[in-house]
Amino acid sequence: MTGPSIKIGTYAELGTAADELRRQVFIDEQGVPEEEIFDGLSGQAVHTVVFDGGVPVATVRMRQDGDSWRIGLVAVDKSRRGQHLGEKMMRTAMAYIAVHDGREIALTAQQQAKGFYEKLGFRQCGEIKVLESGFVLVPMKY
Ligand SMILES: CC(C)(COP(=O)(O)OP(=O)(O)OC[C@H]1O[C@@H](n2cnc3c(N)ncnc32)[C@H](O)[C@@H]1OP(=O)(O)O)[C@@H](O)C(=O)NCCC(=O)NCCS
Repeated sequence: MTGPSIKIGTYAELGTAADELRRQVFIDEQGVPEEEIFDGLSGQAVHTVVFDGGVPVATVRMRQDGDSWRIGLVAVDKSRRGQHLGEKMMRTAMAYIAVHDGREIALTAQQQAKGFYEKLGFRQCGEIKVLESGFVLVPMKY
């Protein structure tokens, strides 16, 4: 039996699988407005998707901005959380960024996920922002 496989690729290669999971986690489960997830920036980004038995179970988006990279849309299937899938995927994404001249990685964390990113070495780098929708966002850097 083989375990989950991690793939890194373009939106053309991985966008369908990544978007399916993003819709489930952010829009259906968390109630994030659709336009914040499908923001038009995925086409130029690099995507990591973890597949298990052909099904996408985790995903992250990586975008280059000069010397620095931005990580976003980090999602693990609800039934697969707490199994270190998110951590493995993030470490793969961070290693990819490191070999592509990424001197700094920025992200905006939902406050409830801040500890997850801290375990990976990210630190808060600015003011917390409270959105009208109730989400509390923390800027972080690695
Ligand atoms: C946040 C999320 C990506 C974490 O993925 P996961 O696969 O469940 O996390 P892992 O099992 O890899 O956890 C790695 C470590 O981080 C810790 N951790 C995980 N989620 C955490 C959280 N929300 N707060 C604090 N610590 C957390 C784990 O306990 C584990 O610690 P350990 O090494 O001491 O055992 C996942 O819960 C998720 O998709 N949530 C819904 C979408 C979301 O909120 N995304 C983040 C948007 S900013």
